[in-house]
Amino acid sequence: MNFLPKDKSIAQRCAVLGLDFNQDYIGEDVKSTIEAVKQFNENLDSTTLDLGNSGTGIRLLSGYIAGSGKDCTLTGDKSLSQRPMNRIAEPLNSWGAEVSLKEQKFPPIEIKGTKLLPEFTYNLTIPSAQIKSCLLLAALSSKTKITIFENIPSRDHTERMLEECGADIKRDGNKIILDGSIEIKKKFIDVPKDFSSAAYLIAANILSKKDILLEGVGVNSTRTAFLDVVKEMGGNVVLKNLENITNEPRADIASNAKQELKGISIQGEKIPNLIDEIPLIAIMGLFAKGQTTVRDAKELRFKESDRISLLLSNIKKFDPKATVTEYEDGFDIKPSNNLDTNSVNIETGGDHRIIMSFMIASLGSGKEVVFDETSSVETSFPGFFEVLKKWFQ
Ligand code: S3P
Repeated sequence: MNFLPKDKSIAQRCAVLGLDFNQDYIGEDVKSTIEAVKQFNENLDSTTLDLGNSGTGIRLLSGYIAGSGKDCTLTGDKSLSQRPMNRIAEPLNSWGAEVSLKEQKFPPIEIKGTKLLPEFTYNLTIPSAQIKSCLLLAALSSKTKITIFENIPSRDHTERMLEECGADIKRDGNKIILDGSIEIKKKFIDVPKDFSSAAYLIAANILSKKDILLEGVGVNSTRTAFLDVVKEMGGNVVLKNLENITNEPRADIASNAKQELKGISIQGEKIPNLIDEIPLIAIMGLFAKGQTTVRDAKELRFKESDRISLLLSNIKKFDPKATVTEYEDGFDIKPSNNLDTNSVNIETGGDHRIIMSFMIASLGSGKEVVFDETSSVETSFPGFFEVLKKWFQ
């Protein structure tokens, strides 16, 4: 069975760069980005593009368009319209772009066609692959040169894809240099299965003591810190058949847990490497002995929802006897290890990762969860509920 969609980060980079890739199983975010790029290429005059729920789509495409010298407006759904875009507008504007935002912060993003300076240097103060990629793509479409200092590493799919396509890109320690004047070759990219989607099934294996194998999953080392967390909590994870295809590593992932899980503490440089998996790690913490702590993760407040606040308010309902402390940049959760089986209403905020995480919590506990909506799961993992049903047959 084809359990997993194609990697959402890699697929959207292909879409923005106009590269051909395997699109047999993709979520709504990837579809929105493909559609927006198509519309941008078909319209000679100024146009408005709707990126739906996709933060990656809107930020990467804004960079590409700001470098292209064309006028364009980019919008999104209710959740995307509340996410900060000044993090990309500020560097782009210092580089010579003319990008304006609603209340200087939010979409719609209005781009007026200008010429970027021939060289630009930027120090990433937020460890974000979306900001980094936005700037790399702007350099490519404007045929200019960018130097980026990245003090805390974030996912490097854009750098790998550009390298695969023959771009003049180099990394020297924490410095990335791209000379966008060298044209890239439009290669076919064989996108692996999405690690962040696989994480839910790894957790399903761990919490249900199953050991179903996941095949062909992207295991780029800037994405897989979740595997270290699983191991440290007491799970087993083994990677098999490791191969490198179109400059991205992939493997089959076997996982299970033969012993009780224990709580974990995560902070610092590891955070960007597992940022999307933190809601799921918090849920795994509910099934572990001892406290689970996450710090240095303020970025969670700027995702599809404020993931710290929403996660904790739902955890308090799911495990009312747990001790929960909220910090601006994280949380402590000491579970009761004594869950009842009462049904619980989960407020989702339309956030796919909140829904999928609590679905795993429900599977692990037998506790019924009732969501105020579930359609947003389609953004990243269409068929998630059906896959879980098959998993537990
Ligand atoms: C992504 C980068 C991360 C991640 C998001 C996808 C990407 O966001 O949370 O789901 O594809 O570059 P930030 O760059 O905002 O950390």
